[in-house]
Amino acid sequence: MISNIKYMAGVKSLKDIDITGKRVLIRVDFNVPMDNELNISDDRRIREAIPTINYCIDHNPCSITLVTHLGRPKGEYEERFSLKHIQKRLERLLHKKVEFVEDFEASKDEIASCSLERVFLLENIRFNKGEKSNDLEFAKKLGSICDVYVNDAFGTAHRKHASTYGITDFVETKVAGFLMKKEIEAFSKALERPTKPIALVIGGSKISSKITLLSAIMPKIDKLIIGGAMSNTFLYSLGFDMQSSLYEKEFTDIAKKVLEDAKEHSVKIYMPVDVVITDSIENPIDVQVVPVQDILEGFKAVDIGPATVKLFSEAVHLSNTIIWNGPMGIYEKSRFSRGTNRLASAIVDSYAYTVVGGGDTADAVEKAGENENFSFISTGGGASLELLEGKILAGFEKLDRKD
Ligand code: ADP
Ligand code: 3PG
Ligand code: MG
Repeated sequence: MISNIKYMAGVKSLKDIDITGKRVLIRVDFNVPMDNELNISDDRRIREAIPTINYCIDHNPCSITLVTHLGRPKGEYEERFSLKHIQKRLERLLHKKVEFVEDFEASKDEIASCSLERVFLLENIRFNKGEKSNDLEFAKKLGSICDVYVNDAFGTAHRKHASTYGITDFVETKVAGFLMKKEIEAFSKALERPTKPIALVIGGSKISSKITLLSAIMPKIDKLIIGGAMSNTFLYSLGFDMQSSLYEKEFTDIAKKVLEDAKEHSVKIYMPVDVVITDSIENPIDVQVVPVQDILEGFKAVDIGPATVKLFSEAVHLSNTIIWNGPMGIYEKSRFSRGTNRLASAIVDSYAYTVVGGGDTADAVEKAGENENFSFISTGGGASLELLEGKILAGFEKLDRKD
């Protein structure tokens, strides 16, 4: 049986097809971290898609249409998630004018007009109800504005949405972009014959979509290090009072099951023993380091504490492959970024093969000044976890194959 990685490596790439005169639609992942003023804090995901877009520009297509989501809007317009905020940065990185399209159906003729090298950027595809539900009619509409579909959205490749999956039924030629290819190649190095012990460091705030993946990953790893808001949920499931911290009560049973599965597979679990707590995230007046059993009433756990940093650092130091997704705290605020920064240094100080994945984690690592020291920085968070689990990602499933 061929591995999931080998299967995904077998899809055709942009280089295997001719796009001359074609309307090319590229699904990219421009879901970049932004601050409260809507400044892009890390444009890695846009930069990583540039080779694919430039290749298309250089190969005489009719037009290029870029499709992405940003954030998690609920199927309708929300100003803060508009792609208007991305357009300028994209133009700067491409050195080229990008035309913003609010309604792709209304702009169908424009997209088909074949004026030389026009690049269109569609408004956030998740403003449409049919995107996340992978509605067939919606996927068909999207498919009708292109002749060639290129999936280069590695960060979203684990989602079965209309623009990452459903659309492939309505376009004849569908291939992977260069970022998808590059990511698979890098993960093949990390995951096909990994050197043990393998540590997975998990954190961040996307608890519901990531906690459900952990049980299936247990057979593949030796250590699981849990921090960030993810660990709040685990600590809550063990009976700790997490007060006003971010955690998800409904996932208590799943957290317990993950811990049981870890035991069954002899995976060593590391969790915070102390945390940084605050009375407020935006205007902190009272910030303290306390043992996890002593979180003050109404306070929030927003970073791992110094004893935990020590514990986690020792755990990663004795690993040979380290995969990291999810910051250890609210790293966007310098006051709550120390745990994430320290752990980043500990990970790169190990002699392990180190992979970091996720839009926010990649940003955090860059802010910590350690980005050059990781073996590989992936644009995928959830996507890289599903790879680790052994899955074929939905975004690769229905692309044309070389064999
Ligand atoms: P990635 O983008 O790397 O996959 P996530 O999106 O899952 O990571 O999580 C990143 C977010 O998690 C950041 O915005 C960070 O502020 C938040 N976070 C981490 N720890 C905590 C915490 N203890 N409480 C609240 N938010 C947290
Ligand atoms: C990510 O940031 O992990 C990807 O862009 C996917 O986003 P999602 O978890 O909202 O589907
Ligand atoms: Mg994120």
